[in-house]
Amino acid sequence: MTYRIAPSILSADFARLGQEVQSVIAAGADWIHFDVMDNHYVPNLTFGPMVCQALKPHAITGAGQAVPIDVHLMVQPVDALAAAFAQAGADLISFHPDASGHVHRSIQAIKAQGVQAGLVFNPAQPLDVLDWVIEDIDLILIMSVNPGFGGQGFIDSALRKVEAARQRIRASGKDIRLEVDGGIKVDNIRRVADAGADTFVAGSAIFGKPDYKAVVDQMRAALAA
Ligand code: DX5
Ligand code: ZN
Repeated sequence: MTYRIAPSILSADFARLGQEVQSVIAAGADWIHFDVMDNHYVPNLTFGPMVCQALKPHAITGAGQAVPIDVHLMVQPVDALAAAFAQAGADLISFHPDASGHVHRSIQAIKAQGVQAGLVFNPAQPLDVLDWVIEDIDLILIMSVNPGFGGQGFIDSALRKVEAARQRIRASGKDIRLEVDGGIKVDNIRRVADAGADTFVAGSAIFGKPDYKAVVDQMRAALAA
């Protein structure tokens, strides 16, 4: 299993975002998780496509390797902003199916731009829509907090949902990433991996500490144990 750690810049210092992206990549980030909030679908407001575009040149390793920008849209409606983020350099774009009137169309629109598409499931939302679109997506993102804020506590029922999503991915025979978002720390990442996740968003756990690399290393050690 190839595990990926995706630091959420929601908890970064917004006055120094470019440097924060570089620092967390130097610390070993596999993806940069970019939380887009619209003060409508969720009760908070963050950043838009222009900030994504501005950060794109910073999302690169010291060796010159591009680091994927993983855009998590917490917006309603979905399609216009998804298109803008594709233009702004997003590598993956995920949206909440309950925020789109036409989920299949939104997925196709993202993929038509050459960007990977993902679906995000809130804590109380069932996975049923996957019955109809799992063959079309590249990523499933399970929320282990209610979307809108960093620094919340992990909701344990997400583990059962991760297991259910992993079963669906296996049954599909497709290579689909299974990401978990919210409340992930060094001391619970292993449980989340054991449930079947392969990609881990972590905001406050990383940016809340002075040494990002120490946290990423501890997370990798927990995953390898
Ligand atoms: C919540 C966001 C998360 C958030 C996670 O709406 O989607 O990505 O930044 O933050 P932590 O890791 O602090 O729970
Ligand atoms: Zn997120």
